Amino acid sequence: MEDFRFVNKTDIRFGKNHIDTELHDAVAQFGQNVLLAYGGGSIKRSGLYERVMKALSGLNVVELSGIEPNPKIDSVREGQRLVKEHNVDVVLAVGGGSVIDASKVIASAKFYEGDPWDLVLDADKRYAIDQLPLVDILTLSATGTEMNWASVISNPETNQKIGTFGPNTPAVSFLDPQLTYSVSKWQTAAGSIDIFSHLTEQYFDQANDTDIQDGQIEGLYRAVIKWAPIALATPDNYEARANLMWASTMALNGLVGSGKQNAWTVHPIEHELSAFYDITHGVGLGILTPRWMKFVLSDKTVAKFARFGRNVWSIQDDDDQVVAEKAIQATYDWVKSLEVPTNLPGVEITNDEHFQEMAESAVTFGLDNGYVPMTPADVVALYNASMT
Ligand code: NZQ
Ligand code: ZN
Repeated sequence: MEDFRFVNKTDIRFGKNHIDTELHDAVAQFGQNVLLAYGGGSIKRSGLYERVMKALSGLNVVELSGIEPNPKIDSVREGQRLVKEHNVDVVLAVGGGSVIDASKVIASAKFYEGDPWDLVLDADKRYAIDQLPLVDILTLSATGTEMNWASVISNPETNQKIGTFGPNTPAVSFLDPQLTYSVSKWQTAAGSIDIFSHLTEQYFDQANDTDIQDGQIEGLYRAVIKWAPIALATPDNYEARANLMWASTMALNGLVGSGKQNAWTVHPIEHELSAFYDITHGVGLGILTPRWMKFVLSDKTVAKFARFGRNVWSIQDDDDQVVAEKAIQATYDWVKSLEVPTNLPGVEITNDEHFQEMAESAVTFGLDNGYVPMTPADVVALYNASMT
């Protein structure tokens, strides 16, 4: 196990209807001027917008709407303009990962005079400045952004989608599983696969004897595998939504990755797909992950895959290679059972014209330091293997 420091100060309010009684004070503790950020309208259709506005009565609220999936830097620029112009004290993000991610960078951009894209490209610039407190109401279980330091922002002009870190996690996160009843099948599946992938990126790691973390990850894996199909079949099943929501948070709040050592692999490869084709992040991960598992399975990694097969998928066999291969097949079958595409043509990527460029960009995000290091040629091969 590697050395680590773990500090996470997010105040979690988990469960039913806390926003109606607690949101006002959770926001007002930071000031009167609030930027309310949200996406394309799901919060209006669900009635959540009205509940939020009621809870915020008495505060000065300025709104930023229309933050898109795979949030674009232009939304951050608009948010920066608003927080400066209205001297905002606190950002309230209501939505999925895209809204919360963009809001984190907006919270930093209040204290930056230049273009916020600089802050995405250079984390040192963000750590050198202050960040407004962020309160969020999560409406989609997937990214873990509700309790972590990360944002992923896209720049369509340059075909870049870049992960960036700030100094603070959200100050307060409201996690009410009921708010995810209205999430579509597609987004429920994508979010569940995203959680699965976050676990995979941290489980398959070269740090030895991380039994605490690996045991926690295995429990989270089993929960996601079990509850995702139930949420798909019965969208208003509270226990399914609650387990997925807490799994989302626990998979990526820094805890299970502490003491690990590797850079992530599948995420940078997927981010290129989203950057070039604007596809849904979790769906891209579902296509790539089983192929990546096949690619990295070898004599050196088979023991870890066998542990994964036995402890996560309950596969019984004495032969590690057999268990490993069955576990990879089980992963593919689970993704398929969630009714999302399992190859690139399924998300309308039908030719390889950008694969080389995407692969070269992906490796710059640390793939040489991954669980199994990958070259651009390896990544192109992975994209090609994902065509059928
Ligand atoms: O925009 P609205 O109208 O709100 O609709 C959204 C959006 O169309 C909809 N939605 C959200 N909550 C809903 C709902 N629809 C009905 N009912 C609800 N309760 O779902 C659509 C997708 O929303 P989005 O926020 O994009 O999804 P998600 O939470 O999966 O976030 C994906 C983004 O997060 C990044 C991804 O790359 C992607 O850009 N990631 C962020 C990470 C982080 N900050 O740590 C890590 C992840 O690996 C990931 O890369
Ligand atoms: Zn992800």
